[in-house]
Amino acid sequence: MNSQAIMTKEAQYFMGAYNRFPVVFTRGEGVYLFSVEGERYLDLLAGISVNILGYSFSPLKEAIKQEVDRLLHTSNLYYNLPQVELAERLVHRSGFSRVFFVNSGAEANEVALKMARFYGKKKHHHRYGFISFSSSFHGRTLLTLGLTGQEKFHHYLDPFPPGISYARLNDIDSVESVLDETVCGIIVEPIQGEGGIYPCQVSFLQALRKICDERDILLVFDEVQCGMGRTGHLFAFQHFEVRPDIVTLAKGLGGGLPIGAVLVNEKIVEITERGEHGSTFGGNPVCARSACVVVDTVSKGEFLDRVKENGTFFREKLEEVHRRFPDQVKEVRGVGLMLGMEIPGKAKRVVEAMFQRKVLVNACNEDTIRFLPPLVIEKEEIEKGVEVLLEVLAH
Ligand SMILES: Cc1ncc(COP(=O)(O)O)c(C=O)c1O
Repeated sequence: MNSQAIMTKEAQYFMGAYNRFPVVFTRGEGVYLFSVEGERYLDLLAGISVNILGYSFSPLKEAIKQEVDRLLHTSNLYYNLPQVELAERLVHRSGFSRVFFVNSGAEANEVALKMARFYGKKKHHHRYGFISFSSSFHGRTLLTLGLTGQEKFHHYLDPFPPGISYARLNDIDSVESVLDETVCGIIVEPIQGEGGIYPCQVSFLQALRKICDERDILLVFDEVQCGMGRTGHLFAFQHFEVRPDIVTLAKGLGGGLPIGAVLVNEKIVEITERGEHGSTFGGNPVCARSACVVVDTVSKGEFLDRVKENGTFFREKLEEVHRRFPDQVKEVRGVGLMLGMEIPGKAKRVVEAMFQRKVLVNACNEDTIRFLPPLVIEKEEIEKGVEVLLEVLAH
């Protein structure tokens, strides 16, 4: 079946919620994707920060194949080995106390927020409120959408669960102004992704940590997009050197398979009782085996050093683009291999034009394009992508 036939069938059977680019991919190799017609696309988006080891990482593929032959699923009524091995790795490498596995980023955040509410109610009796930030994105369930500080995601969905307030990123006074005795948790992306690649200032995260310590509020870092090596550290909190009470992970964790994780400290361990939460698929053996390979690979010093080095290289190239097109490009932002370029009013057009030239990037909104390449990307591939960006801006 050719692309056109597949797209026609999709239109016939899909609910129609997605905006998609007109291409059907059938195969990946390195940092490239190939369409049904065999056309090659340079991937600077990695399935939105998921395929962090690219498409040809054989230890990952082999581990998945072996686990598929051994055991597909058990449910969490029983133990399975890959899940426990993954838990051990994540706990040791993060310094957190325990982990809970889920299937996606939204679900990881739901668990984190549920834990914060358990803590607020069990320890302080009356606490149930959350603070999140403008331009944030935390998922597409009702609670995580409620906490997402972007109006465009709220249409027709209110009322959201009660107790949600929004503050401004990197503005601690705005946090103080919405703090009250009902707040049990503050959730923040250390680097906002969907909202436009906005990193938090270290001093801001430190100030949040201080407020949370003083009032015994739980601080949740949503590392669904910015975690798993993207900053040049396995966890984003290690880049900022501020430790939250809960970290949520998904996307890159499985290297392409759906798995999420919630890392918690002793405060949560103390108040959690067996039976209070569950998941049918969470920590499924195949996904967990895949995630073990990802964690082992990404946490190596040389791997993370290369992310830092290539992140700096990519950023310098984007700064050059900024210098060459100061009238179109307003700013380059980001950390490591999580980069954004603000091109006011033109982001969608630039992304479309790059797609026509077979380079995949994404527009967070009308103003910002974002680059989330596989972490194994090479300098030549970065150069190739930037050349195409230059060509598009010159047109
Ligand atoms: C920071 C952040 N949190 C949560 C999510 C939701 O993840 P998922 O789509 O896996 O539910 C996303 C997805 O883009 C995200 O970027």
